[in-house]
Amino acid sequence: MKNTLTIALSKGRILEETLPLFEKANIIPIEDIKKSRKLIFDTNHDNIKLVILRATDVPTYVEHGVADFGVAGKDVLMESSTKNLYELVDLKIAKCRLMTAGVVGVELPSRRLKVASKFVKTAKAYFAEQGIQADVIKLYGAMELAPIMGLADLIVDIVDTGNTLKANGLEARDHIADISTRLVVNKAAYKTKYQQIEPILEMLRDAANKA
Ligand code: ADP
Ligand code: PRP
Ligand code: MG
Repeated sequence: MKNTLTIALSKGRILEETLPLFEKANIIPIEDIKKSRKLIFDTNHDNIKLVILRATDVPTYVEHGVADFGVAGKDVLMESSTKNLYELVDLKIAKCRLMTAGVVGVELPSRRLKVASKFVKTAKAYFAEQGIQADVIKLYGAMELAPIMGLADLIVDIVDTGNTLKANGLEARDHIADISTRLVVNKAAYKTKYQQIEPILEMLRDAANKA
């Protein structure tokens, strides 16, 4: 009997794009994930299961080896301190950019900057690398409000179309990183289950490159 492989998927925006990609790779849940309250799903392969997680929890499940694979945004992976993962495939979905942004036309003050972000670790590393003194304030959403309300001089956030920035009187400033969704694999599982893992990697790689 084959070992079961568990793939941890990020719910939300990424899941919307993951399901069609997995379908192209012929990994298909046997019931409709979007219509169910279940968190664990069988697929058309009797040795592949899918679990649906908060995006930020995906690296944790893979690090601990309870999921063999994970599907997570590069932003989440950069922010997570997890080890024991290989980032093996760029799935090329949920593409966006991580950027700094500020109020249109407002120059930065000469004092230490105040930066608001959900991506505290990444923001700190970015400003340190630039040699810019900055305090980073942790937020959990609606980052665009922070400069308008005077909580911060800049934000570090995801930008795609730029519509959210524009609608709130903000402008993108510096580009920090290009973001897309990645397939990560637990390092130990990659060694011990290599024979099973490799064909799945290949299917997902092909599907991502065809899309
Ligand atoms: P959250 O509730 O954590 O914001 P989302 O479902 O909105 O979750 O986003 C999950 C992931 O999708 C992010 O980590 C990022 O990789 C990507 N993403 C976020 N916003 C956008 C966007 N506007 N366009 C494309 N991809 C995005
Ligand atoms: C994301 C991100 C930005 C917006 C950028 O928010 O945090 O606010 O998308 O996309 P745009 O440049 O195309 O406008 P999301 O819609 O995911 O809302 P939430 O994460 O705050 O729920
Ligand atoms: Mg979001």
